[in-house]
Amino acid sequence: MKIILLGAPGAGKGTQAEKISDTLGIPQISTGNIIREALKSGSEVGLQAKSYIESGKLVPDEVVIDIIKDRIAKEDCANGFILDGFPRTIAQAEALDKMGIIIDKVLDIDVPDAVIASRLSGRRVCESCGSSYHLEFKKPAVDGVCDKCGGTLIQRKDDHPATVADRLKVYHEQTEPLKEYYKKTGKLYTVEGQDSVEDTTIRTLRAIAE
Ligand code: AP5
Repeated sequence: MKIILLGAPGAGKGTQAEKISDTLGIPQISTGNIIREALKSGSEVGLQAKSYIESGKLVPDEVVIDIIKDRIAKEDCANGFILDGFPRTIAQAEALDKMGIIIDKVLDIDVPDAVIASRLSGRRVCESCGSSYHLEFKKPAVDGVCDKCGGTLIQRKDDHPATVADRLKVYHEQTEPLKEYYKKTGKLYTVEGQDSVEDTTIRTLRAIAE
């Protein structure tokens, strides 16, 4: 099963990708997490991406496409994968098609802009493993500590309100047209993502099983 998760920043792509990954036993591939790891390690890709990611702009297509090519060639992707945050432009979707990847489902997690701001201001992520939490909607067992690895929970630099507004603008201009792109393939499913994490997971898994 090869799945794409579409949706605005903070719509819950990463949260649902984790659940799908646990349920179907296929890896979650988050370009955002891969880029943040590259930033932390000070690699060439990290240096190329730094100014874009911190200001909420998209990293250039060629950089992200190379990241995806390398990642999906790995053995753990043989039975499928969940793309979380890729593609994000028409050029990236076309590159995926050119790689000969046949996508089974494209799930668009639909959350209005008004809800996004509170989602992102309350989000905390693990600085070690990247797992995502929320101060109100998805609390860790111990405040400030990751349930999975015991790492410290921090706020992402691009979750500050001014950058969130820029990310939403970029989303509407460059990523939203992908809905029409995938609608034409008959593989687009819309999942209402405004309710609790658990209700959204039920809807997401139902759309996959359809
Ligand atoms: P990326 O890391 O992909 O960020 P994003 O798309 O902006 O998405 P987020 O991670 O912010 O949100 P999400 O939808 O995963 O929501 P989450 O599940 O965490 O990308 C960051 C940057 O990297 C980009 O700006 C760009 O620079 C670069 N980049 C990445 N991919 C790229 C690409 N393909 N091309 C070019 N550049 C690229 O949920 C958010 C919060 O809400 C959490 O706290 C969660 O607990 C909570 N929550 C989730 N669901 C619910 C619910 N149903 N109810 C209540 N709370 C909920």
